[in-house]
Amino acid sequence: MQQLRVPDIGDYRNISVIDVLIRAGDTIDVEQSLITLESDKATMDVPSTFAGTIREVLLKPGDVVSMGSVIAHIEFADAASGASGDANESTNAAPAAPQSEPGKASALRDRAASEPQAAAAPAAPITPVEVPTIAAGSASASRVTIAAGPSVRKLARELGVVLTDVKPGDRNARVLREDVLAHVKATLASSASAVAAAVASSDGLDLLPWPEVDFARFGPVERNPLSRIKRISGGNLHRNWVRIPHVTNFDQADITDLEALRVTLNREAREGSAKVTVLAFLIKACVSALQRFAQFNVSLDGQDLVQKHYFHIGFAADTPNGLVVPVIRDADRKGVAAIAEEMAELAKTARAGKLAAAQMQGGCMSISSLGGIGGTHFTPIINAPEVAILGVGKAETRPVWNGSAFEPRLVLPLSLSWDHRAVDGAEAGRFLAYLAALMTDFRRAML
Ligand code: COA
Repeated sequence: MQQLRVPDIGDYRNISVIDVLIRAGDTIDVEQSLITLESDKATMDVPSTFAGTIREVLLKPGDVVSMGSVIAHIEFADAASGASGDANESTNAAPAAPQSEPGKASALRDRAASEPQAAAAPAAPITPVEVPTIAAGSASASRVTIAAGPSVRKLARELGVVLTDVKPGDRNARVLREDVLAHVKATLASSASAVAAAVASSDGLDLLPWPEVDFARFGPVERNPLSRIKRISGGNLHRNWVRIPHVTNFDQADITDLEALRVTLNREAREGSAKVTVLAFLIKACVSALQRFAQFNVSLDGQDLVQKHYFHIGFAADTPNGLVVPVIRDADRKGVAAIAEEMAELAKTARAGKLAAAQMQGGCMSISSLGGIGGTHFTPIINAPEVAILGVGKAETRPVWNGSAFEPRLVLPLSLSWDHRAVDGAEAGRFLAYLAALMTDFRRAML
């Protein structure tokens, strides 16, 4: 067993070890880098002068060394290699150092391009290193010689690049730093385009391709492009549908009393004012529910939850060109009548195709009402980055058991889709039950 020592490193003293490139049990070759040192001007690899098996490594990153410091204990592969490296002195003295500066730091592989002397010095020795590789069609490992300098090998190691995969640009078949970087660039570009191709062909879900059908075979057809709004909203809906783990809860609210109030209010309303709608009450009820269950007034942003302290509510509006979602801002500071006025105005603007982008931004949650059209419950798609959407069906008069008899009550179907990443099922149940209770007795909104 012999010692591998730091050779003569010129004027450098107490220089830091930034990397230890060997481990106990490693079989190393002559010229293989053992450690990387860093001074205030340069980093340099210390190569081994012996071949053999490392028995113990005595340094770790952060240690400080000078000439003669012991790096490791090595068992020689054969007596010859030990003899050639002056084993009697048990040092890692530099072999065949450049003749101009025998025994000096030139035996190290200086890697400081920024250091003027280093830049002017002859090119660092390029060391052929045997890299194990699996030959195509063969199960056994063969060895391929790669010519690369220590700094290039270190760069490759840090980037996880296998040197045998890198095509040398150099005429002498040396792998240079630029070759490693070009290889990384090309690999990234090809994996990015592979991902893009996978997404394009299968929506990133590894699905079967979309069926290609010649519809004209079955009857007369005509082909029209999707409207701009449908293209945009379709992309958003698709993303939200596949990316958000949706759950939808169903409930219903007895709005008999609320409807009576609404009819009264509309009868009393001054000429020309907007009709007070069920939807306007629902917007106000959503604000109360968001205030009580603040965990719904959030958006996911990476690993963070953004808690909102404002209350902007979006409502889906059907327009000749497709679905848009204008937003009522600061609905907590507005009364039901004012909300109804603003909704009517926004719906009109939407149908005219004149909504500004800002009028559709900043929502905390949305409502999709099909109450004026029909149907009961449905599963609305969450309008990201919101985490909940309320679906409203058509209220119908139903026989409801009051404890002693059935009585006719106006029942409003409610469906709440929520993002299970942000909200739990029990919270969603409470949110929707509270919303239904508010619609049943709106006086609760004042509590
Ligand atoms: N139950 C029973 N009747 C309802 C109701 C409900 N939940 N909601 C509305 N109505 C009634 C209204 O009272 C009104 O009747 P009236 O004229 O006798 O008073 C009628 O249905 C029409 O209402 P509407 O004009 O639709 O007003 P609204 O306030 O309910 O809705 C919009 C306004 C903008 C939301 C609506 O016009 C719209 O575009 N809805 C479609 C939304 C949509 O496409 N959702 C699906 C998205 S995936």
